[in-house]
Amino acid sequence: MPQDIKLLVTRQFPADVLARAGADYAATFNSKDTAWQGAELIAQAEGQDGIMCSSSNKFTPDVIAGLPDRVRILATFSVGFEHIDLNAAKARGIAVTNTPDVLSAATADIAFMLLLCASRRAGEADRMVRGGHWKGWTPTQLLGTGMQGKRLAILGMGGIGREVAARGRGFGMKIHYHNRSRLSLELEQGAVYHETAEDLLRVADFLSFNCPMSDDMKHFLNTRRIALLPDGAVVVNTARGGLVEDAALINALKSGKVSAAGLDVYEGEPNVNPAYWELDNAFLTPHIGSATVETRNAMGFRALDNLDAFFAGETPVDLL
Ligand code: 8YV
Repeated sequence: MPQDIKLLVTRQFPADVLARAGADYAATFNSKDTAWQGAELIAQAEGQDGIMCSSSNKFTPDVIAGLPDRVRILATFSVGFEHIDLNAAKARGIAVTNTPDVLSAATADIAFMLLLCASRRAGEADRMVRGGHWKGWTPTQLLGTGMQGKRLAILGMGGIGREVAARGRGFGMKIHYHNRSRLSLELEQGAVYHETAEDLLRVADFLSFNCPMSDDMKHFLNTRRIALLPDGAVVVNTARGGLVEDAALINALKSGKVSAAGLDVYEGEPNVNPAYWELDNAFLTPHIGSATVETRNAMGFRALDNLDAFFAGETPVDLL
């Protein structure tokens, strides 16, 4: 890799990732690890050939229009790419790549952690012990909802969704899913396909969001769709916060229509609707789906593989 290629690395990615970027490129790093946006992002891009970014950097049409001509590729350190306006990038001839596959297992682990922690009331249990409020075992203390034999509804059966399904099978759950297109029998592994997302909701004892964010999916889980869920459903979201209409889910958690929710992502994060804080049946984590050492390294290396291929004149494997 010619070392004169200039690469802007917008965040403090793991050390091994930064080391490789620094060895292979004339890299500029973000020592303060602030999430550059707007005019600052454009200014930082001056003189760069490519940008390795994260989903915390918003490449809106305005930002993309303002990028110097020299920038030819945006390699995002994420599977999600709704923070990059693909049409605007295409119009300017800027390539965009993401990092699928390598984070599927880690994200599915967190989806399952949320399913378990929400349904078995792990937050309340921890607070009871930690706060010194545990007065001793009782027969009906902190009863949760069991998973075995229940229907796990997976919305979005890509790499992460299929890993969630595999874990669900291990827990004795019946797997149901909706996806833009039905999977092959080999990939389905007995999971029941639903033609519409609404049909899936009707059987969702447990609902896991594993689909990409898009304009038409904004606030997908609204009051009307929550009404379709079985009473006492458990909802988890490790995909994107904007898929859920917070006010609707909060009302459903208050009424018990949704018995518990596990959320790792939020609309407008890091801001979180404060009503969630007051709800004992909401288990909340700060966007840690892919947060393992192994996975974050793999994401970084995958982004760099894409950059290497692009600058070698090849088609990056994850070109969007
Ligand atoms: C990342 C993610 O932590 O890959 C994604 O789309 O949401 C997470 O794995 C984050 O977006 C990093 O850019």
